[in-house]
Amino acid sequence: MSEFASRLIAWHAENGRHDLPWQNTQDPYRVWLSEIMLQQTQVDTVIPYYQRFLEHFPTVTSLAAAPLEAVLALWTGLGYYARARNLHRAAQAVVRAHDGIFPRSAAQLVELPGIGRSTAAAIASFCFGERVAILDGNVKRVLCRQFGIEGFPGERAVELRLWALAESLLPATGIEIYPQAQMDLGATLCTRSRPRCGECPVSETCVARRTAREGDLPARRPK
Ligand code: ADE
Repeated sequence: MSEFASRLIAWHAENGRHDLPWQNTQDPYRVWLSEIMLQQTQVDTVIPYYQRFLEHFPTVTSLAAAPLEAVLALWTGLGYYARARNLHRAAQAVVRAHDGIFPRSAAQLVELPGIGRSTAAAIASFCFGERVAILDGNVKRVLCRQFGIEGFPGERAVELRLWALAESLLPATGIEIYPQAQMDLGATLCTRSRPRCGECPVSETCVARRTAREGDLPARRPK
């Protein structure tokens, strides 16, 4: 296993969050809902919305059967309403095309509305232990710093390089935890401004740290 992955997994066991409402479940409906809500919204804001949503729609079948207005009403205040519309459409697709059972592979999940490559991989690894890489904004930042990746990560060539790197680092065991470890590192220590390198489990091997370029990596969008 890569040194990077094993250090992150060990760090997460001690320092990660383990009691969030969408953890300790492998129900893909719940994990999917949490990942969509967390895409553009902070954990503390998401929690009450997540719980209220599940009280109204405990299953993908109940969500699919609801009127769109009821779904949007529960989303009021979270913003980025395209997420709620896609959620509703994806629930209907799961019911129609998959008999109400969530598909179990990232390749099938990514076909659903609103589920991109990284979200599909997060659901497939958390719920089904599939060995696939995630690459959201937090993970891009961590990888750019750790491995000194130059260029703006929103650029296609840089992004492809990051995907290949993320795949090369996947651990052989612990795949249900590894994505969460990466997300938590990016969200809590390897933050955009003022990263807390003193507490980081991979600071010794970090190129940005060694070259004092934490503030310059990842590169900003070119003007
Ligand atoms: N952002 C996206 N997915 C997340 C998760 N599972 N935990 C924390 N932040 C996230």
